[in-house]
Amino acid sequence: MFTINDNYQKLPGSYLFSTIAKKVSAYATANPDKSLIRLGIGDVTQPIAPAILEAFHGAVDEMGEAESFRGYSPDSMGYEFLRSAILENDYKSRGAEVYVDEIFVSDGAKSDSANIQEIFGADNKIAVTDPVYPVYVDSNVMAGRCGSYDEKTEKWSNVIYLPCTLENNFVPEFPKEVPDIIYLCYPNNPTGTTISKEQLQEWVDYANKNGALIIYDGAYEAYISSPDVAHTIYECQGARTCAIEIRSFSKNAGFTGVRLSHTVVPKDLTCGGISLHGLWARRQNTKFNGTAYIIQKAGEAVYSAEGKAQLADQIAYYMRNAKLIYESLQSVGYQVFGGVDAPYIWLKTPQNMSSWEFFDYLLEKGNVVGTPGSGFGPSGEGYFRLTAFGSYENTVAALERIKGL
Ligand SMILES: Cc1ncc(COP(=O)(O)O)c(C=O)c1O
Repeated sequence: MFTINDNYQKLPGSYLFSTIAKKVSAYATANPDKSLIRLGIGDVTQPIAPAILEAFHGAVDEMGEAESFRGYSPDSMGYEFLRSAILENDYKSRGAEVYVDEIFVSDGAKSDSANIQEIFGADNKIAVTDPVYPVYVDSNVMAGRCGSYDEKTEKWSNVIYLPCTLENNFVPEFPKEVPDIIYLCYPNNPTGTTISKEQLQEWVDYANKNGALIIYDGAYEAYISSPDVAHTIYECQGARTCAIEIRSFSKNAGFTGVRLSHTVVPKDLTCGGISLHGLWARRQNTKFNGTAYIIQKAGEAVYSAEGKAQLADQIAYYMRNAKLIYESLQSVGYQVFGGVDAPYIWLKTPQNMSSWEFFDYLLEKGNVVGTPGSGFGPSGEGYFRLTAFGSYENTVAALERIKGL
């Protein structure tokens, strides 16, 4: 008789956004006359930029001609034209040492950040910043690496939590116990804050000194405007021997529905003489048949002069929303964070409300949907996330409602 992977049974409740969706749908059904404004989920709203759309159309047409038709790609790593564009624009232009054959094109930072743990031993102990993008922990739970869940503390017995709260200015401190694998995400989802290049360098030094590995999620890199923030972990000295970086096209190019990302595994990264690059290549070649050619062609256009200009406008559009949210909330007395190098605003809930109490309050009194901070981890309790990914008009309207509460 077959058995199931029992680790799945350990996962508590349903995924944060399905809980929110259920609550919102129940409220909408009970109150059909109310119009809700959603500033909850981190999905983009601006359409695909024209230069990218043109590349898409061109690639679709190529698929209709025998001479230019493409079937399986030569390997699962992605076409060289895209990997070269990524190398030039995301790494060489930043003075970071990365090579074209270290870049693995994939279909999402979610899948890569969830799948990468497969190449590590079951006994590795992970550390996560808290609050955190839930995928890092959940994927390790599924692999049996996190121990048991304590509903009271909302913590896993075998995970090292690095609290990021206003008390430490959302900068994680080094833990007492040395982790094997450390997940870092900057600019951060959900707090919208980031750390300086100097602070990131300290984490790289810590990892190298202690034989730990950093999995660095740079999904929001395009939103960085502060000069002292690293655009890639490979700007830090020594990162090639301790860090894997995961990047996404979702938030910089509106590819949340298109699906494209890449992961860098440097060849200098080894464990007992075994190359992690080789392991990841083996994993991808076995389980993944590559990202669609037409999507990779669209991805290439992200790096064209027109593509870059059009996407800079989109990012400016979202960051205008971020500034508006930040300043409007601050003007009525909220404590607000983030929103400068990231499209997320993280706020302290007023009057010591819990995150879910504030969620209900905002939904019922303001008809605005946000995300409870506690859904991202125990240190998120008492905080709340709003996203700048809505339309400008909706953002203005939502803030008028919040200010009027
Ligand atoms: C930190 C972080 N990493 C990864 C992702 C997923 O990115 P993708 O759309 O490339 O799967 C998200 C999406 O919200 C995210 O916030």
